[in-house]
Amino acid sequence: MISLITNIKELLQLRSDDVEKVSGIEMNNLPTIKNAFLLLEDDLIADFGEMQNLPKIDPDIIIDAEGKIVLPAWCDSHSHIVYAENREDEFVDRIKGLSYEEIASKGGGILNSAKKLQTASEKELYQQASERIKEIMSLGTGALEIKSGYGLTVASELKMLRVIKKLANDYPIQIKATFLGAHAFPEKFKEDKEKYIDLICEVMIPEVSKENLAEFVDVFCETGYFDVSQTNRILKTAKQFGLIPKIHVNQFNSIGGVQLGVENSALSVDHLEILTTEDLDELKNSDTMPVALPACSYFLSIPYTPAREIIDAGLPLCLASDFNPGSSPSGNMNFVVATACIKMQMTPEEAINAATINGAYAMNLSKTHGSITKGKKANLIITKQIPSYNYIPYAFGSNLIETVIINGNVI
Ligand code: NIG
Ligand code: FE
Repeated sequence: MISLITNIKELLQLRSDDVEKVSGIEMNNLPTIKNAFLLLEDDLIADFGEMQNLPKIDPDIIIDAEGKIVLPAWCDSHSHIVYAENREDEFVDRIKGLSYEEIASKGGGILNSAKKLQTASEKELYQQASERIKEIMSLGTGALEIKSGYGLTVASELKMLRVIKKLANDYPIQIKATFLGAHAFPEKFKEDKEKYIDLICEVMIPEVSKENLAEFVDVFCETGYFDVSQTNRILKTAKQFGLIPKIHVNQFNSIGGVQLGVENSALSVDHLEILTTEDLDELKNSDTMPVALPACSYFLSIPYTPAREIIDAGLPLCLASDFNPGSSPSGNMNFVVATACIKMQMTPEEAINAATINGAYAMNLSKTHGSITKGKKANLIITKQIPSYNYIPYAFGSNLIETVIINGNVI
């Protein structure tokens, strides 16, 4: 099927196929063409250019994008959208003065979600996650990473990952799975934490690998959760089974997780609300993508990842939603991009780069997603009629998306 989008006011994020990510000052450059056409062949981008150079073709579908902006669909590289029930009671507890950490130490937080997930059926989890996926697809997300980590037992971690696998099969967006068995210590291992690390390394990782349920491994490396040496053991074991590390680091404290991630060639280090000069130096000369999660900072009222320091140091930066019931109950990447501009002093160009090509990099998807490039997946956002792309983060409370195209199909 041939689809043609015509009269595009501005087509954003045109990249040659050798661009895997953008860093530093280059993040402020967003290559575009005005008054453009975009040609799709089945699920792929076939051609694009200025309207005056439109080739003679006979498309099956024509979409007139007069006054509208077209950009690649968002690539959301960090989410926990498979969960059983929300945690709005904890939200109210926080309004009344308890901190995220205080709630967790009272058995709330991740352990609260684990209790609920352990008794939920695969079918229930699938249904709840499906609703979330449909919502974020309509908000322009075209590729998504999903973590386990609310199971915390062998059976429930595998249950979560099987749900993710089924979602990946059933939904047209690209979904990548991450094993996050090391998200919190279950109550029963509180007194003997090494036993839980043994269970992760000796049972969970081999099972996940045997059933081919995940491409990445993640650990919540943080005070009160997994320390550097425990994280190291998990990452090293997972690597032996072919899993690629991505770590939750520096959400509340800098304890050496960034350095550990870099040493283990982590694909990404995520959160980084607290970042030291040493952490920043570690990231230089590495291929590890720093990932900021501004919706989490917003929701928990914790510091925002220092985007300016990261980008001004010549590093790349990625933006993701962290969609989960405890610290970011939203997967709206439009809000994430706007918040990055409003609260982290990122320019619209930087934020769009961070949420498209750099998001694709953080999921090992740069070859197929994240930019307008011939041969890449036709995953696109067509906006309503708007004055400029700066308007996307500016009008942060409005839904500016008119059409979402995934694999060449309007959804
Ligand atoms: O990325 N910080 C660790 N994990 C999640 C939150 C999990 C939860 O509260 O349920 C995060 O913010
Ligand atoms: Fe997270």
